[in-house]
Amino acid sequence: MDADTKKVILSGITPSGILTIGHLTGALINWVRLQSEYDCYFMIADLHAITVRQNPAELRQRTLDTAAMFLACGISPETSTLFIQSHVPAHSQLAWVLNTFTGMGECSKMTQFKDKSKKHSENVNVGLFAYPILMAADILLYQADLVPVGEDQKQHLELTRNLAQRFNHYYSDTFKMPEPFIPEVGARIMSLQNPTAKMSKSDENKNSTIFLNDKPEEIRNKIKRAVTDSDTVVRYDEENKPGVSNLMQLYSIATGKSFAEIEKQFEGVGYGEFKAEVADKVAEYIRPISERFAEISSNKKYLQEILSFGSDKANKVAMKTLRKVYKKVGLVSF
Ligand code: TRP
Repeated sequence: MDADTKKVILSGITPSGILTIGHLTGALINWVRLQSEYDCYFMIADLHAITVRQNPAELRQRTLDTAAMFLACGISPETSTLFIQSHVPAHSQLAWVLNTFTGMGECSKMTQFKDKSKKHSENVNVGLFAYPILMAADILLYQADLVPVGEDQKQHLELTRNLAQRFNHYYSDTFKMPEPFIPEVGARIMSLQNPTAKMSKSDENKNSTIFLNDKPEEIRNKIKRAVTDSDTVVRYDEENKPGVSNLMQLYSIATGKSFAEIEKQFEGVGYGEFKAEVADKVAEYIRPISERFAEISSNKKYLQEILSFGSDKANKVAMKTLRKVYKKVGLVSF
């Protein structure tokens, strides 16, 4: 199939921290699989990142690191379009138009907005409020059919669909109606220190998180320090044994073994030995990614070339949609 007949996928990650093993299992493995079948756009959402205060030097570095990590995980810059959101001005431009189609109430009811307003109560800015409108622009610019996202972004997808429909109805057919694409079995990886909360790239306690650029020794140490329980049995029970269940989940990802197999393997084995085995296997699982990441990051020119190639491609597609939109709303063409 050529690019014209393939369905379009767009997804993105906000560079608010180094990517974790949760991004690998929850998003990137899936993206890599989709590449051959779909016309994929993968974006680093730096404009979304600045809705909370960032350290400029760190944001810049993390944006490039996220791009390098996409590549290290197997995103192909020839097959897919890999780009930085702010390198394609049409995202901001379409977002402005969509702002004028969005009700205040639609944004203020967003769960993520409410959560983030609490968490960053010192800086509840208009950008944070309009965050899902920018996300709608990201998606609609590329006429995406499918948008792989986590459960937490589903509400933003709903808004995107509403805006597309509203615009299409008010003018005429302009935007493709995107569908969320939520992986069914995407293992939910929990924090190593607080196993009832999701593992997060922005957790302040770095021992909670396995980063994709962690060295094997760091991974081993973090897993050995992981919170378990006062029981001694290796058994999958998310509710009563969240820490052990999470380690089993990680072990399952690294080895492909089922929970039943893991329980059997560790029957009568203490937590110390269990953790050491999980630590070794997970460290080995991540090693090729962290090594490839180090290689790619050391070649700044290579990364820059890929990103500039990606944004050229993305710009062309995005401008086509933006021009249509500008025309429909009555702006003078340029
Ligand atoms: N908001 C998404 C997140 O935090 C990232 C994102 C930005 C995104 N734009 C997108 C995801 C468009 C899918 C499609 O995870």
